[in-house]
Amino acid sequence: MAHSTAPDAIQERLAERTQQFADVAHWQTAPEQSPFLTLLVQTLGVRNAVEVGTFTGMSALAIARGLQPGGRLLACDVDDTWTPVAREAWQAAGVEDRIELRIAPAIETLRSLPNTAQIDFSFVDAEKTGYWDYFSELVVRTRPGGLLVFDNVFRKGRVLNPTSEVDDAVVDFNERLAKDDRVDVVMLPIADGMTIARRRP
Ligand SMILES: C[S@@+](CC[C@H](N)C(=O)[O-])C[C@H]1O[C@@H](n2cnc3c(N)ncnc32)[C@H](O)[C@@H]1O
Repeated sequence: MAHSTAPDAIQERLAERTQQFADVAHWQTAPEQSPFLTLLVQTLGVRNAVEVGTFTGMSALAIARGLQPGGRLLACDVDDTWTPVAREAWQAAGVEDRIELRIAPAIETLRSLPNTAQIDFSFVDAEKTGYWDYFSELVVRTRPGGLLVFDNVFRKGRVLNPTSEVDDAVVDFNERLAKDDRVDVVMLPIADGMTIARRRP
């Protein structure tokens, strides 16, 4: 992390503000993931992004900062307990007007989107048992060459020795995704493991 772009004051304050939710503060994406997400979104020239699992808004902030002028992020979460903290950070960063926050089960939000391949970039970081369903809804709406990124694919290393149904679900997701012929897939050892899938033409 010392040799990646450092968090700015807004990201540092957001990390501090998230500590008020002590039991779940660890849900926040790790500091090294923010510059990586921003870089991916910038490099891909993203105009239409989707996030599944927003929490206090750290990853959404990183994605929104990388968008092209006029670009939009649809941020999905089922719980609005923590999203006021997210909005505060997005406002401070001047990206609030690029983000539409939808509070509902994310699968319903995704199924309500047009059935056309219009998404450039997705980041999935909600409940792990839903990953395959999220992938299924997103991949058909992703443009050729677009990216789908999935967080926590290592389960802190437990994918090698699963100890719960959630671990089993991620093991199953990882295996199915690697075999899916609609995407090229790379699993990266960043934070708790991030998989990037690129929609094939
Ligand atoms: C790990 S946190 C996301 C962390 C976030 N990406 C960040 O950078 O801070 C997971 C989030 O997924 C949300 N979530 C869980 N189940 C969901 C569902 N069925 N639909 C939408 N969001 C859900 C939770 O409310 C929580 O805010």
